[in-house]
Amino acid sequence: MLEIPKLTYELSELRKYAEEKYIPIIKEDTSLLLEILLKIHKPDKVLEIGTAIGFSATFISMQTGGLTLIDTIERDYDKVHEARQNFDRFDIAEIVKVIPGEATDILPCLLASGKKYDFIFIDAAKGQYNEFFPFCFNMLNSGGLLISDNVYFHGMVEKDDAPKKHITAVRALRKYIEMLKDNDGLTTIFLETGDGVAVSLKK
Ligand SMILES: C[S@@+](CC[C@H](N)C(=O)[O-])C[C@H]1O[C@@H](n2cnc3c(N)ncnc32)[C@H](O)[C@@H]1O
Repeated sequence: MLEIPKLTYELSELRKYAEEKYIPIIKEDTSLLLEILLKIHKPDKVLEIGTAIGFSATFISMQTGGLTLIDTIERDYDKVHEARQNFDRFDIAEIVKVIPGEATDILPCLLASGKKYDFIFIDAAKGQYNEFFPFCFNMLNSGGLLISDNVYFHGMVEKDDAPKKHITAVRALRKYIEMLKDNDGLTTIFLETGDGVAVSLKK
């Protein structure tokens, strides 16, 4: 079991560090949502796409008392290095495995190797959620949760005034939202939490 008070203090320090360095991590209210879902759901195996410096993976570990195995994918090698240092520091390196590389390359390998997860958290490039989805859906156990963060992308997905540089990601997210709504294999609710979070339960 993890030493929770130490972890709580050190995680708040890691949040401060991420904010100072402009490293995007889950918003405070998104972490509350994750806490509630994780404590109800108690997943054995978690997959995260988008590790950054390991804040959310550490938070997930903390909420599951260190009893959950977490695979987390990150394509920025400096961040992979920093995340590994943080997992060592928090004493969770044995249960949190960072998989370095591009998620669209790694997900097919995880699926082919027969991996299954109870909880999948997508927090990576918004324009790629549609590409991640088929692999995530196939690796998610029945009764498992798929959590997609940032689905409203600073409100741009709901309005028609996205700056040119974000239009591709905004269109991709709109398509992703419609696909989740239409998917008969999932029950999905869209929450305003953080930057918009889709919570999908696999039937
Ligand atoms: C918002 S940050 C993740 C924050 C982290 N989940 C947290 O809350 O602590 C997104 C991260 O996803 C990584 N990323 C984006 N698209 C990716 C992809 N296609 N494959 C792997 N990593 C990706 C970025 O390099 C970035 O570090």
